[in-house]
Amino acid sequence: MEKVELKKGIYWVGAIDWNVRDFHGYSTPYGSTYNAYLILDEKNVLIDTVKAPFYLEMLGRISEIIDPGRIDIVVCNHVEMDHSGSSLQIIDRIGSPLVVTSERGKKGLEKHYGRSWKFKTVKTGETLSIGHRTLVFVEAPMLHWPDSMFTYIPEEKLLLPNDTFGQHIASCQRFADELEESQVMKHAAKYFANILWPLAPLVLKKIDEIKKMGIPIEMIAPSHGLIWRRDPSRILQAYVDWSQGKARKKVLVVYDTMWGSTERMAKAILTGLIEEGVEARLFHLRSNHRSEIIEEMLEAKGILLGSPTLNNGMFPTMGDFLTYMKGLRPKGKLFGLFGSHGWGGGAIKEMRKLLESEKFEIWEKELSVQFVPNPEELSRAVQFGREFAKRIV
Ligand code: FEO
Repeated sequence: MEKVELKKGIYWVGAIDWNVRDFHGYSTPYGSTYNAYLILDEKNVLIDTVKAPFYLEMLGRISEIIDPGRIDIVVCNHVEMDHSGSSLQIIDRIGSPLVVTSERGKKGLEKHYGRSWKFKTVKTGETLSIGHRTLVFVEAPMLHWPDSMFTYIPEEKLLLPNDTFGQHIASCQRFADELEESQVMKHAAKYFANILWPLAPLVLKKIDEIKKMGIPIEMIAPSHGLIWRRDPSRILQAYVDWSQGKARKKVLVVYDTMWGSTERMAKAILTGLIEEGVEARLFHLRSNHRSEIIEEMLEAKGILLGSPTLNNGMFPTMGDFLTYMKGLRPKGKLFGLFGSHGWGGGAIKEMRKLLESEKFEIWEKELSVQFVPNPEELSRAVQFGREFAKRIV
């Protein structure tokens, strides 16, 4: 195996999951990686582990560099099993290393693995000298779980923030600068939108806290995807922009259809949006995964939701999408509603009720058609799109 050295004596020893296509409800068409890092110093340190089925892959990479029994310290930045899943095996293999984690991390590890290891719990600002280098710990609750923390190595200006700044991508490359920037940022945006979006205020607070700590960051090595080796300020700024809800004049038309009527309305609305110069995209709910639509939503100012009525309510795929979306709490978007119905309506009412209960901003106008839209109703749909576009400044 080729060794990947991030900094002199610091290695990537993670695993590549080429085949994962669903990460707890998030579609991962490009797979993922579980990044673990090995630091050689007077005390050798393993930062995080990998998902359990990939233990031997990680062990193989470590063994290419040192005898795993020579690891003195295992840092667990996050208990979720894509990172702690090999802890039991590697800690047993090492013997009795010091396990460094947050207080909640200790509780989580004990509950997950039923072992009481030689723990050292740390809080923000605590340090641990490992010889020529120092580990500085920064608690990062809810980024991504309450137990999460970052590890920083000042001598290397290296931040190891676990889930934050990651991307779900399996690739031969290990560094973000080895792929085209727009491609990497697209993966990072999807990851942020589907995992960290509801935590945006905490992201901003944490970035501010790190800035105030005055710690220079030359490299960011997250626990998924590519390492930000060059100019990590790009991903830091992108996180600030996404967390602040920076969006452009872009509208998504998200719909499902039973007999094609809502789809015809959706396409007519799209025409109206385009005629007004808006960047517009159409998403049929059964042709696009919810997590792909959420990624597109990140930088959109408006969302038009269309559903036929089924059993006096919205179509089930719309219910699935809205349930997922409300949990991610996208802020600063304007929603519009449309749909078709047969003998009785109900879809728009149900969508509105759900959006209102979550305090989303909803355009006062709505568009409803019975059975099949006629030419006059399709013209109204184009006009509906044009008017919505004017509301998106
Ligand atoms: Fe990648 Fe929260 O685990």
